[in-house]
Amino acid sequence: ASDVQDDLVNVLYTEDQIQGRLRELAAQIETDYAGKDLLIVGILRGAVMVMADLARSFSRHLEMDWMAVSSYGSGTKSSGVVRILKDLDTDISGRHVVIVDEIIDTGLTLSWLTSNLASRNPASVEICTLLRKPEALTMPVDVKYVGWDIPNEFVVGYGLDYREQYRNLRDIGTLAPHVYS
Ligand code: PRP
Ligand code: MG
Repeated sequence: ASDVQDDLVNVLYTEDQIQGRLRELAAQIETDYAGKDLLIVGILRGAVMVMADLARSFSRHLEMDWMAVSSYGSGTKSSGVVRILKDLDTDISGRHVVIVDEIIDTGLTLSWLTSNLASRNPASVEICTLLRKPEALTMPVDVKYVGWDIPNEFVVGYGLDYREQYRNLRDIGTLAPHVYS
């Protein structure tokens, strides 16, 4: 079997660039939340890598929790329907929450999640995403922490999948055309 790395035709962000940007985001969040408690919430499954590396870039205490959500059906994200597959184990009332995901595409997932969590009376809710595709956004999402804005291209690696593969790549990039055929 070939290496997973072999199918990447173009590397957008290397492991080093990703780690460097996450350290900058963590420093910014540390400053903004100085003296406050902090709970970061990762959105399964794509955010696993970002959560692990972002969390370890902090020198302060924080808590981590997870949610899993799904759009109804497949390819029907535009329907705007999201359901919770795994809810938080934490009561967030009165807590400062930062939702962590690896990419904002149409914005549906995080737009829905932000209002869902906001209805639980937290002290605050903000979003941190490694990547955002401004051209793909179909609904407004107020994002406080963004790693990079990228063009509307299909990217894999570092949590991002194509048919459930490539999540374990350390870099982020685009796939060679032969993968799709
Ligand atoms: C992907 C990605 C984001 C979401 C972004 O997750 O990880 O969570 O889609 O897309 P949107 O802005 O159009 O809502 P997905 O639901 O594919 O599941 P996964 O995290 O398990 O890969
Ligand atoms: Mg996801």
